[in-house]
Amino acid sequence: MFTTENLILRGFQDNDLGEILALRNDPLVQRTQTFSAIAPAPSSKYKEYMKTFAEGSALWFSLVHKESLNFIGFCCINLLEAKNRDARLGITIASEFWGKGYGTEATRFTVNHAFRYFGLQRISLDVTEGNARARAVYAKLGFKVEGIKRRGNWVDGHWEDIIYMGVLDDEWTEMYPEH
Ligand SMILES: CC(C)(COP(=O)(O)OP(=O)(O)OC[C@H]1O[C@@H](n2cnc3c(N)ncnc32)[C@H](O)[C@@H]1OP(=O)(O)O)[C@@H](O)C(=O)NCCC(=O)NCCS
Repeated sequence: MFTTENLILRGFQDNDLGEILALRNDPLVQRTQTFSAIAPAPSSKYKEYMKTFAEGSALWFSLVHKESLNFIGFCCINLLEAKNRDARLGITIASEFWGKGYGTEATRFTVNHAFRYFGLQRISLDVTEGNARARAVYAKLGFKVEGIKRRGNWVDGHWEDIIYMGVLDDEWTEMYPEH
């Protein structure tokens, strides 16, 4: 278990699954998580899927708000091809906790931890064009745009590009030498 200024970052617990399902069923969140159609997630199937996903992640942090002890989301790292020492970052925070700096705090800690302990040389992610909040967090922390898939996602009656971003280990060390 780790702590940052406002968060406790702990391992996955089965009783997180109800909260994770609630997150998925928030349309504001779901549209950022899938390129499929927006639809309510069926309880047992989705919980089973997320349990497998969480337990299979190289690094999974369930995010707990230090002051209230509420579960507020999760941040994870999933390995891509091992030989490339590349991994994918995922983060989700409940919408009532957006805009308070927690996304930046959790992402920074997770990326830092992944570079420090997992021997990665890059961390990758994709984000939709309309997800300005996530793009702001990634850009602020030093992720760079590496490519764009034009009209990659149909959402809410319009097309959005999918933006591929990444950060390299030496870039991270230069930005955050204390890591
Ligand atoms: C993306 C997410 C993790 C960000 O978490 P958060 O706690 O809201 O982020 P923070 O409060 O740390 O930072 C948000 C930043 O977005 C900026 N922002 C908010 N709305 C914005 C907008 N419309 N346009 C541009 N920037 C915006 C804020 O100003 C802030 O930047 P600042 O600290 O430099 O002022 C969270 O919104 C979330 O979980 N969203 C749903 C899931 C998701 O999108 N995951 C990522 C998929 S790639």
